[in-house]
Amino acid sequence: MRISVEAFVQDGRTRAAVEAMREDVRMRRSQVRVHDGGLAAAPAALGRMDSPDLLILESDKRSEGMLADLDTVADFVAPETRVLVIGIEDSIALYRQLLGMGLADYLVGPPSAGDLLDAVLRSGSAETAQNLAPLIAVLGVRGGVGASALACNLACKIGHDISGEVALVDLDISAGTAAISLNLNPRQSAADVMSQGDALDTTSLDRYLLRYDDHVMLLGSTAQLDVTFRPPSDMMESFMNGLRRQYDAVILDLPRQWTSWVRDLLLDASAVVLVVYPDLSNLRDVQKMGAFLTEKRSGANPACVVLNKVGMAQKAELAPKDFEDVLGRAPVASVPFEPVAFGQALNNGEPVVKKGASKAFLRSMDQLVDSLKLEMKPGTRAARKARKSLLGSLLPTSKKNTAKSG
Ligand SMILES: Nc1ncnc2c1ncn2[C@@H]1O[C@H](COP(=O)(O)OP(=O)(O)OP(=O)(O)O)[C@@H](O)[C@H]1O
Ligand SMILES: [Mg+2]
Repeated sequence: MRISVEAFVQDGRTRAAVEAMREDVRMRRSQVRVHDGGLAAAPAALGRMDSPDLLILESDKRSEGMLADLDTVADFVAPETRVLVIGIEDSIALYRQLLGMGLADYLVGPPSAGDLLDAVLRSGSAETAQNLAPLIAVLGVRGGVGASALACNLACKIGHDISGEVALVDLDISAGTAAISLNLNPRQSAADVMSQGDALDTTSLDRYLLRYDDHVMLLGSTAQLDVTFRPPSDMMESFMNGLRRQYDAVILDLPRQWTSWVRDLLLDASAVVLVVYPDLSNLRDVQKMGAFLTEKRSGANPACVVLNKVGMAQKAELAPKDFEDVLGRAPVASVPFEPVAFGQALNNGEPVVKKGASKAFLRSMDQLVDSLKLEMKPGTRAARKARKSLLGSLLPTSKKNTAKSG
């Protein structure tokens, strides 16, 4: 989200809530300014500035006084500016009256940082996060730890579990292997698609993806060595949002480069999976990356650390507890080292979850998916299915048929 916000606060606690809201990762492209003096101070200040996208006005007056002050401020507010009011009266009638006047929202003050953020996200953007499928970023903390293999297995597992359609996007432009793992032959990569710039129609991105099976679509890498891939932040965001509108989940196989677009995707993602091999160099690097993400993704789900290839050199490996002690959070899963299954999977172009998976591997994938805390968008096949089964268990048998036909 990229909006300008001017907040006129009265209470120190409201100021703190606005400042916390400003720090949330979803607000990092926005400009938020806080002024003291509340609603009463707004007209004079607004007279000297452009009307923002969102105006937050706090008043400590009861309804009559507050409505009179709102009337004064109205002359300084552009019609497209959305207005969020924070007041002292907890009254449905007042709430309805304010919304009837065209205000975006009304909160009883001082609001909690979370309530304020929700209200800002709701009123600040026509596209709420609700309409977007989860975006899952998978990154290997060091080379060759198995990030791409896990991204691919994750796409197949989630697609199958939710009985929906998942897009797997290989963003390792020069060396990606997702297409090999799925035995597909892409002609276009994400770099080719995004090179269209403003001419790219993000409402129908499906034509660039190849179908793997009923549940997985791939935008693969074509191993290009001659392209410089530096997508502008806006372009990447609208490309990803396009995919998130079209599919039930989007999984990114990220290259291990610390470029600004990789960092942006790690901050925008609904879930981040950091894949590590349990040794000391991985521990050092995941500690740094984890600290960076914890700070920058404040408010969002914390990154999930997954140990992979566990047992490859058993005696020399660190334990999950070693990671927990350093990171403050336990790894969400330990994926066993299974060279035969993984080798065959690559040769057959079929991810391990589809064929040849051991119970231990499947269990670790279940734990990984659980820890992602995915929120499916309403209206997707997955969400409809969940609703249907909920209805099925709630309704008495005689009503089930009616529900089905309706
Ligand atoms: N749990 C596992 N057991 C056995 N082999 C594995 C496991 N996970 C991944 N591999 C194998 O390890 C190799 C490297 O995996 P992969 O390409 O996914 O790593 P990566 O982290 O994406 O590497 P890169 O840094 O090149 O992007 C592949 O041959 C893959 O099949
Ligand atoms: Mg990789």
